[in-house]
Amino acid sequence: MSIDLSTTLGPAWFPTPIFTASGCASSGRELAQFFPLKNIGAVVTKSIMVKARPGRPTPRMAETPSGMLNSIGLQGPGIDSFIANDIPWLVEQGARIIVSIAGETVDEYATLARRLRSVPGISALEVNISCPNVENRGMVFACDPVSSRAVIDGVRRIIGGDLPIIAKLSPDVTDIVAIAREVVNAGADGVALINTLLGMVINTETMRPHLGGKTGGLSGPAIRPVAVRAIYQVHQAFPKVPILGMGGVRSGRDAFEMILAGASGVSVGTATFGNPRATLDVQEELEVILTEKGFTTLRSAVGFAHRQDRQDRQDSPEMSGE
Ligand code: SIN
Repeated sequence: MSIDLSTTLGPAWFPTPIFTASGCASSGRELAQFFPLKNIGAVVTKSIMVKARPGRPTPRMAETPSGMLNSIGLQGPGIDSFIANDIPWLVEQGARIIVSIAGETVDEYATLARRLRSVPGISALEVNISCPNVENRGMVFACDPVSSRAVIDGVRRIIGGDLPIIAKLSPDVTDIVAIAREVVNAGADGVALINTLLGMVINTETMRPHLGGKTGGLSGPAIRPVAVRAIYQVHQAFPKVPILGMGGVRSGRDAFEMILAGASGVSVGTATFGNPRATLDVQEELEVILTEKGFTTLRSAVGFAHRQDRQDRQDSPEMSGE
């Protein structure tokens, strides 16, 4: 029996719930030699800024136990080149496109939204308010409820009802549910959980920070339990708000875990560096697991762990009065 893998993030529909993660495959050109991009849920492009940007000094990557640190610093071609070259290429591939945007100010996010709102072929905007690789930590909008709200509010005003907005949040906060509440109240259709965690490696030979930018974002399997926790908490607080989950997914089982926690879609990032087919492999493995577990639709698995949790509480002697 074939399973219905389709999913939605707000008003945007996707045939499968497995996407690339922003930042790990640029605009997808490198991955297209390994599988047709139209065969996965969507390509989430590397966060694009208003102007071209060289990024941070090298080295920009460091291996860590079960993960890696990156300190790319939002390198990219700028919005004009992106609209002229990358979007038409992705449309030609038949890929569904989620465009990730990043700005240094609230106005820059609004400018990007203005440039993108009438570009055909875009399924949704991921508003990245959580990049850790910026000089000024005050620019990590997602660490502050007021700034998070201001960015999403500004983008929503420009976009109107035209495109779904997914706010990408940082795990480096005390209460991620409070930040999720702000962005949803400001007009986000969903949230992307989680961006990388701020980390650091010191080279014990040179006795100096390894990364050119000193600090970097930690990704890979080491952070998956943090992502699952964040997804679970946000889904529990706002069961109707769609979540795009990410953070260390490298197998169908990892994606299934995030879906059980409450994710309607799952992005595969760091795993792609070791296995460029990882996104498709995860999708194929997920389909097998869902079938084995008796699900006929992806949707019925979303947040399933919460239903179990509620059931267990009802069945406990304390709740049943035994
Ligand atoms: C980067 O380009 O520095 C990574 C972007 C991000 O983590 O949001």
